[in-house]
Amino acid sequence: MSSCISSAAVSGSAVYSGKQQRRAPSVALAGQMPHHARAVLLSTRPKGSQVSLSSNFVAGRPHARRTACKAKVSMAGDGLKRIIISGAPASGKGTQCEKIKEKFGLAHISAGDLLRAEVAAGTEAGKRAEGFMKAGELVPDEVVITMVKNRLAEDDAQTKGWLLDGYPRSASQAAALKEAGIEPDIFLLLEVPDDILIERVVGRRMDPETGKIYHVKYFPPPPEIEDRLTQRSDDNEEAAKNRLATHARNVNAVVDNYKHIMVTVDGNRDKEAVFSDIIEAL
Ligand code: AP5
Repeated sequence: MSSCISSAAVSGSAVYSGKQQRRAPSVALAGQMPHHARAVLLSTRPKGSQVSLSSNFVAGRPHARRTACKAKVSMAGDGLKRIIISGAPASGKGTQCEKIKEKFGLAHISAGDLLRAEVAAGTEAGKRAEGFMKAGELVPDEVVITMVKNRLAEDDAQTKGWLLDGYPRSASQAAALKEAGIEPDIFLLLEVPDDILIERVVGRRMDPETGKIYHVKYFPPPPEIEDRLTQRSDDNEEAAKNRLATHARNVNAVVDNYKHIMVTVDGNRDKEAVFSDIIEAL
């Protein structure tokens, strides 16, 4: 572990503005952590910089923050990374997961993808979930919790580590993870303003062959694959507004469970800049 880690244990969140890429102070976030977690803010503090050690949320949305720091997480004794990535609809979770998975070879477990697979297969769970998903509401716990727990128990997640995307989304889902003894090492929260999110949702296109995510304006697909691209049934403005409202209602309750290992990342930047901050944190 780095020699710059302080022994001070604090409870709070590490924050990236991304726009300020200066060196930040050395503070350990070791208090109240799961046994395998060690989150630390790294390196030397620039003049005039601040570090936020509290999560300042108002009306379900995090405050914009001027603070910048670098964080580092060293993982469990088995060396496997266990990551939760959270954020509003279209904040870029899936886009960043593609890159994190490619770099670290983790099992990417997306609650939304699992549910869409159930819907496509016409299972009972899928039939139950479909209406909620179209409306932008949370699918009931009895469908989601077991589904995610079972997926986390599969071999690849156990042997490679995992990247959990879009779960938990409520206090009860977070409690279910805890009860099952499933603890992440780091909780990444992507922050993007709502108006940008709506534009991202309606412009998103998926490649069913590669699973790659495009955007008509921000990441236009190569012309030769345009015809095969699909659009999600919940990627319209009305459902997106509901999804944002659902997220806003629940985000505080989820964050409360992970403040001690939370790293907030400004997701309203080029995806490579966002990824670079995430890599710094991992
Ligand atoms: P889910 O599939 O998880 O949807 P979501 O949370 O709404 O998130 P998205 O997949 O829409 O967005 P994303 O953050 O992955 O963004 P992306 O990278 O694609 O869930 C769908 C539904 O399933 C829920 O509404 C709910 O009904 C149900 N559900 C899921 N989990 C559940 C749970 N735990 N409990 C109960 N129900 C659950 O990017 C979006 C677009 O932006 C793309 O076009 C991309 O190219 C673009 N983009 C990405 N990054 C950038 C960037 N940096 N700059 C510009 N554009 C960018």
